[in-house]
Amino acid sequence: MTGKLISIEGIEGAGKSTVAGQLADRLREAGHSVLELREPGSTPVGESLRTLLKDGTIHLAPLTEAFLFEAARHELVVRRIRPALAEGQWVVVDRFYDSTTAYQGWGRGLDVEMLCRMHMDACGETTPDLTILLDIDPAVGLDRARSVTRGQGVTARDRFEEEGISFLKRIREGFLAIARAEPNRIVVISVTGDADEVVQCCLRVVEEKLGRID
Ligand SMILES: Nc1ncnc2c1ncn2[C@@H]1O[C@H](COP(=O)(O)OP(=O)(O)O)[C@@H](O)[C@H]1O
Ligand SMILES: [Mg+2]
Repeated sequence: MTGKLISIEGIEGAGKSTVAGQLADRLREAGHSVLELREPGSTPVGESLRTLLKDGTIHLAPLTEAFLFEAARHELVVRRIRPALAEGQWVVVDRFYDSTTAYQGWGRGLDVEMLCRMHMDACGETTPDLTILLDIDPAVGLDRARSVTRGQGVTARDRFEEEGISFLKRIREGFLAIARAEPNRIVVISVTGDADEVVQCCLRVVEEKLGRID
């Protein structure tokens, strides 16, 4: 008995956290045991690294950033994802290694093939059964992300939100290129409708790719 690993990707404000939560709820209603995780995070080391990585006032060289994301990812894979999959659970993860390819590769300019080797070191054979890429206009996404940050009363500068539109445009192009290269694993959903419509669309994709959920 092995579970399924679904990753949700996209730029800031695309709706990843919203969709991950609602998709997990729908899978639970269909009778599955579902583990919701976020990257970086969801382990003690991962959450500490998340705090460091989000803090836009701390300068990190691009390769340092990549190593820290991969370290958080390795912890997540070893401590949470593999045990859950082995028990037959479904795992929904809010960001996974495609984010590193997009942000540190397309955004920061690191070599994409090197990053792919790092993902293999961090994850081994633990790769997503399905990746949903939520594609959104960067201006709309950034607006939504900033309103969430303000709503949480966070005044600190977020490392990636602070990079602005041109950075996010490169990331978006990166994600779309990654999706074109792996069409069997990655499905692109254009975020035009409200969150309910996007979740419905995700459920259809899950059933098309992984079989009926109930
Ligand atoms: N399809 C949508 N249409 C309108 N607003 C949305 C949609 N999806 C999410 N939102 C809202 O946009 C904001 C950012 O969503 P969030 O899930 O936090 O994005 P992410 O995790 O990708 O940064 C939240 O306030 C959320 O309620
Ligand atoms: Mg989020």
